[in-house]
Amino acid sequence: MRIFLDTANLEEIRTAVRWGVCAGVTTNPTLYAKESASGVSYRERVVAIAELVGGHVSAECVSRTADDLVEEARAIASWHPNVVVKIPADEAGIEAIHRVSAEGIRVNTTLIFSVNQALLVANAGAAFVSPFVGRLDDIDHDGTDLVRETVELLDRYHMPTQVIAASIRGPRHVTAAAAAGAHIATVPFKVLRQMLQHPLTDRGIAAFLADWERAQTAVGR
Ligand code: E4P
Repeated sequence: MRIFLDTANLEEIRTAVRWGVCAGVTTNPTLYAKESASGVSYRERVVAIAELVGGHVSAECVSRTADDLVEEARAIASWHPNVVVKIPADEAGIEAIHRVSAEGIRVNTTLIFSVNQALLVANAGAAFVSPFVGRLDDIDHDGTDLVRETVELLDRYHMPTQVIAASIRGPRHVTAAAAAGAHIATVPFKVLRQMLQHPLTDRGIAAFLADWERAQTAVGR
């Protein structure tokens, strides 16, 4: 399973790129709003991200009719060759997904909360579907079940749409998404850090360093 970063923050992306674990980035209006104090437009930020990472960068449409979504998706797709356009899974969205996918624009369908939504937009031509794990867990449904069922169904019918486990709240969601067969998990930087952390690793490093110092003293260096 590949790891995408779910952020519009350049420092977080630079760090994940240095770690060699950032296969792509997903953004949305909320994540961009957190960065808007920097004064850059959404387009400028998405292009800056695309220049930092080698993989896909998802940028979200905000239009509310199919015609406007198509126009916005075409514009967003022109920003950078690695940009994937995010469109939500509603009636205007599915029409727009069908129309722009036929033009070769890759769409990441966002706000997926059911297998049927994923099945429909995959038929309409979506390159990616993003089931929202955390938001389903928040309402006492099992978000990981949705990821597993979506992967199994798309696989059974040999559909090329890839599954991005989204709305990830913690490291256990990432493990569960991988076990469920997600192609990609998009994770906040905080979760990426948590995935690497273990108190026994820290304790082990401290013990090895202390022993090293003791050995150096013993041999007189
Ligand atoms: C990713 O594509 C989504 O926009 C993101 O994972 C949403 O996560 P949230 O539920 O934490 O807002």
